[in-house]
Amino acid sequence: MKVGFLQFAPKLFHERHNLEKINIMLKGCKADVIVLPELATSGYLFTNQKEMKPVSAPAKSGRIADFFRNITAKENCAIVVGFLEKENDNFYNSQMLVFPNGRIEIYRKIHLFLDEKRLYQVGDTGFNVFEFRGAKLGLMICFDWIFPESARTLALRGADIICHSANLVLPFCQKAMITRSLENRVFTITANRIGTEKNETQEFTFTGISQITSPKGDILAQATEDEEILKIVEINPTDAQNKFVTETNHVLNDRRREFYEI
Ligand code: ACM
Repeated sequence: MKVGFLQFAPKLFHERHNLEKINIMLKGCKADVIVLPELATSGYLFTNQKEMKPVSAPAKSGRIADFFRNITAKENCAIVVGFLEKENDNFYNSQMLVFPNGRIEIYRKIHLFLDEKRLYQVGDTGFNVFEFRGAKLGLMICFDWIFPESARTLALRGADIICHSANLVLPFCQKAMITRSLENRVFTITANRIGTEKNETQEFTFTGISQITSPKGDILAQATEDEEILKIVEINPTDAQNKFVTETNHVLNDRRREFYEI
């Protein structure tokens, strides 16, 4: 199975620019699964919900869903992409998993970062896993990384590949995802963005270094901190089904839950 990430610099408020960039960079990608950053269609650093509204969209219908259905059908691949979801009067920092047959599944970010707590509802979808071409894809977004329970829950639900859309600003996640991979024996694909965004009170520079890790914690592909790039590697997702670290140590079955607080 060929899996990859697209790292680029979305422009805040400029949906058309962002979709055109995605379209150009994914043309002829010849992959099975591609992961894109968090809020890849809208940009990140919003000040209030009034600004968010024009670049928000419903999950399963409308221009963003149509755009990705079109690409996944044309390129015969699945895409995981972060977007700004609006449902009724609620905004969610969401990911859509779009299949080549047009089916769409959604994850709404659970662990909100900084001002996201003011702008978005906490996600209510739970951590879910979806099968595609024999591999189980688990969805999570950016700051979910700092809670090991996110990746662990996906692994317990059978994920082979964690598709992690990100807009990272702290310098820790790329290293932490090696551990998430190792402790759960899963592949991870962290698709991060690059570039800088400003509003009246804040300036964020996003850290790039998108990466794909193996169940043994090896880095299979990595981008630099400032390049716009599509990287694809070939993996065998069934490698993630071997949960033994040694012949007697199984990372899921050997948990001693009676000694844990959760
Ligand atoms: C983040 O969750 N965007 C850091």
